[in-house]
Amino acid sequence: MLREIKLAVNGEVRGLRVSPEWTLQYVLHDELGITSVKDMCGGKGECGSCTVILDGRPVLSCMVLAMNCEGKLIETLEGIAKANHPLIPEYVKYHCMQCGYCTPGFIVTAKALLDRNPDPTADEVREALAGNICRCGTYPQHVKAVLSASKQLRRAK
Ligand code: FES
Ligand code: FES
Repeated sequence: MLREIKLAVNGEVRGLRVSPEWTLQYVLHDELGITSVKDMCGGKGECGSCTVILDGRPVLSCMVLAMNCEGKLIETLEGIAKANHPLIPEYVKYHCMQCGYCTPGFIVTAKALLDRNPDPTADEVREALAGNICRCGTYPQHVKAVLSASKQLRRAK
């Protein structure tokens, strides 16, 4: 049986009907058309490509039921891009993507890191991104892009 819920996604409240077993990843991607929220591992919680920020913390949206997210703030890559976050141009500048499938998950995880730690070390960036898998092997570039974005954020303050 479908249940009526409201989800606050990227500052906008969206009403929809969900089945109790639907994951947040499925609902965001397939029901709301927020296509940055990928599924690279078949929803097994192993790849990080479905990462979103939920009430300020990065979570694997394939491991969360959508109906448990009412009243929580959800942030995806689309919201991060709309806010002109420096991670977006730095990811382009440092060529952090090949196929690009993993990229939204990396950026969302990095955004959550910079929100809680505006001046991370390279090791802290690596640790924060450790749960994100890239099939194309772009790992070294992410650290450079995140450190550069963190510098820009601090300069802008
Ligand atoms: S789809 Fe969620 S961790 Fe892979
Ligand atoms: S760029 Fe292809 S999976 Fe990461």
